[in-house]
Amino acid sequence: MTFSLAKSTLRKKAFNGLLLFVGWCLLGSCQSETKTKTYRIGFSQCTGADEWRKTMLSDMKRELTFHPNCTLLYEDAGNSTARQISQINTLIDRGIDLLIVSPNEVAPFAKVIEDVFKRGIPVILLDRKIETESYNAYIGGDNVEIGRLAGVFIGNHLRGKGRVVEVWGLPSSSPAQERHRGLHEELAKYPGIRVVKELNGQWERDTVRRVVAAELSTLKEADLVFAHNDVMALGAYAVCMQNGLQQNLDFVGIDALPGPNAGMQAITDGILKASFLYPTGGEEAIETATRILAGKSVKREQILNSIQIDGSNIRALKAQSDKLLAQQADIEKQSQRIDALTQTYASQKNTLYITLASLLVVMLLGAWALYLFRSKQAAYRTLENQNEEIRQQKDKIEAVSQQARLATEEKLRFYSYISHEFNTPLSLILTPTEDLLTKKTVSTHDLKSNLALIQKNAYRLLRLIDQMLDLRKTDAGKQRLRTSEQDLVAFIEDIVVDFRRKAEKQRIDLQFIPSKPSLLVWFDDEKLDKVIVNLLSNAFKYTPRGGLIHIRLDVQDTQVCIQVEDNGEGMTPDEQAHAFDLFFSGTRPFNLSKGLGLALSMEFIQLHQGEITVQSEKNKGTTFTILLPLGNAHLSEEEIDRSGFRNALKEGIAISPRFLVDIDEEDVAAPPDPIKKQLGTLLVVEDNDDIRTFLTTRLGHEFDIIAESTGEKGWERAIDVIPDLIISDIMLPGMDGMQLTQRVKADLRTSHIPVVLLTAKGQMEQRIEGTRAGADAYITKPFNTTYLLEVLRTTLANREKWQRRYASDFLSQAGAGNRQDKKFLNELTGLIEQNLTDPDFGVEKLSRDMGLSRVQLYRKVQALLDMNVIDYVAEIRLKKARRLLAESTKTMAEIAYETGFSSPAYFTTFFKQHTQKTPSEYRKSPAGV
Ligand code: FRU
Repeated sequence: MTFSLAKSTLRKKAFNGLLLFVGWCLLGSCQSETKTKTYRIGFSQCTGADEWRKTMLSDMKRELTFHPNCTLLYEDAGNSTARQISQINTLIDRGIDLLIVSPNEVAPFAKVIEDVFKRGIPVILLDRKIETESYNAYIGGDNVEIGRLAGVFIGNHLRGKGRVVEVWGLPSSSPAQERHRGLHEELAKYPGIRVVKELNGQWERDTVRRVVAAELSTLKEADLVFAHNDVMALGAYAVCMQNGLQQNLDFVGIDALPGPNAGMQAITDGILKASFLYPTGGEEAIETATRILAGKSVKREQILNSIQIDGSNIRALKAQSDKLLAQQADIEKQSQRIDALTQTYASQKNTLYITLASLLVVMLLGAWALYLFRSKQAAYRTLENQNEEIRQQKDKIEAVSQQARLATEEKLRFYSYISHEFNTPLSLILTPTEDLLTKKTVSTHDLKSNLALIQKNAYRLLRLIDQMLDLRKTDAGKQRLRTSEQDLVAFIEDIVVDFRRKAEKQRIDLQFIPSKPSLLVWFDDEKLDKVIVNLLSNAFKYTPRGGLIHIRLDVQDTQVCIQVEDNGEGMTPDEQAHAFDLFFSGTRPFNLSKGLGLALSMEFIQLHQGEITVQSEKNKGTTFTILLPLGNAHLSEEEIDRSGFRNALKEGIAISPRFLVDIDEEDVAAPPDPIKKQLGTLLVVEDNDDIRTFLTTRLGHEFDIIAESTGEKGWERAIDVIPDLIISDIMLPGMDGMQLTQRVKADLRTSHIPVVLLTAKGQMEQRIEGTRAGADAYITKPFNTTYLLEVLRTTLANREKWQRRYASDFLSQAGAGNRQDKKFLNELTGLIEQNLTDPDFGVEKLSRDMGLSRVQLYRKVQALLDMNVIDYVAEIRLKKARRLLAESTKTMAEIAYETGFSSPAYFTTFFKQHTQKTPSEYRKSPAGV
């Protein structure tokens, strides 16, 4: 939960970061565009209606194309001063960086311009002046000079004599005032020339037309009309022409604009005698404005040059100006194209930015998706790892619990076998003791053999207890080493000597082969004694008569190597692998002599910092190898006994397992019993040699005993001999007592044999299991011989009762008893009845048809019915004959034939022998009795 929350917070943060990054990128692309600062230039024009001012505006715009960072905010006042002042304020409000103003009049603008100037907005006065110094630059022609030039021209043109009508521009505007002044200054030089009339044209064609029309009489008398601009001069000309006055009048103007209907064209056409070039200053105004805005210095008073244009220079100037116009038109076209291209470029640039931004977004989203995918994968991997860990932990727990279960099972089994192991010697102590006590007189042989058996088993118990105590010590970690330096060769020789007699008896080649005559080794003699004796006892136990047991002693570098080799029955690889395990039972039951002894041996050798290993091959033999370190460097001070009083064994402090070595079964075997075996054949299946021998000896008085040590061998003997009774131990190597019982009870040939289970296991489950397997009786060890005999007798007596019942049941067609036996008798009876008419039918054919040998058939029938097969066949014949005599009207010959008698005479004799009546007498008697 915490993990997923932290993950989602992280993801949100990362996503926000992504958005910020995209925004920053987009902003960055815009910022790069505005890096060069943009400016807003306000332009307040007194009027935009005439050509001259239109030219001024287009000059400005053309120049502006070189300054793309500047935009022009244009206001046309339409010749109204009030409107122009208001428009200037509006421009300020709209936010301009610089003001260009061409004021309508001189006086009213001083205040507003000063205000603008005070605000820190630079001001450029263009073409016209005002009454303040609060401006950054003035750009325009020298109107006084132009007035003078006009005066010079008029003086010359009129040759010093004539009448002039002056047409004013707006009188309150500075160019009109200055042009007037210049003109009059120059004309003063010509006394013959008089300005006869001053008309107010206000710079406009229409106003001029009106005022000229009102002064036609004056004009009739005049020689020349001088107007302050070409527009007004042409206006006066037009009115004069309408009134036929133009012939005697000359017209002079100012501006000399190129283009159709303008000054230059009028000079070419002879309408105007002269005009004076008056540059608009538009281009210069923009250039100056950008310089100011760029913080560069500018010239405050920029006076533009003027020239006189008349018939003498008009052609050249017109050609030039036409060309200029054409070039300007070209420039404009190109500029328009550039604008278009710039626009296209800008839009393409925008498209490109958008595309790039989109691409970036896509890439970032892609990266984000990849990151999410990766982190998801990582999360899956983590989850999988965690799952795997959990699975492994689960497996471990299962393995541990399985181990614990196995260990518990093994321990339980171990305890169960421990009690079994205790039970056996106890039985062999108690049973002969009881025997001796119950007998009135005891022979010396009986007394000796019984006491020998008791002694042997008492020592065995001691040994077991000793081993158990050793194990307990080992388990509790209290097993301590007490070593002394002794001659190991002599020590082993001493042990081997104790086994000599046993070896001779069993014809075993026992040899001790040391590589040196003596060898000083530090060891704990008590423990090593137990180890060597244990290994030798094992070797004797599993080595057959005539085999070999060799003990070798050798020095290998810094170690001494002891090997105990036999050519006995050997171990399976599984048994070998677990040879030293305390609780391992392998495929066969625990064997304490191996299990406890070897586990202890391992412990003792490890205490010596040595090693014990085993090599073995089934049916080839076994070699145990012990390696002990030489010297005492490996031993701690507490482990070393320097008192020189060791050798506990010789002092008799400890109980040596060697006490058991010499006591053999032969010593206690009973002499052959001359008493007749009245109770029949008894099969004893018991793996413990002592118990087997004991049972053979004690029960030999009453039974013919056959003894076997394994279930398999027991089964073979049962089939072979068909004994009258079987006694079997439950715990047997291989096929155990339960399995043997089941097998005996399931087989037709043996199903009738009573089985008595004899075992140390007294638990109820075992009894139930045994009973379920078909056991007839159950006796626990240690047992009382008298009781055992009694059980055997009772079992046999019960068997006899069954036999009688079976016999009468089968002969009377009733049915009861063991299912297998009933089935057997049914089959047997059926076969006999089918073949009754066949005089050759006999035991030979019957046993063949039943799948048994003749002996097995005889024994089986004898056991079940207590009669032999031939008698049983005869009984069936008689039974049938009785039925035919009682229930049919068949003749004696027919009945004799049907019941398998070769002649009626033999039938009669046989019938009389068995029933004490002839067949005819039987037929006549009531109810066939
Ligand atoms: C245009 C105009 C020009 C003249 C100038 C003087 O409006 O009348 O013809 O030269 O203004 O300001």
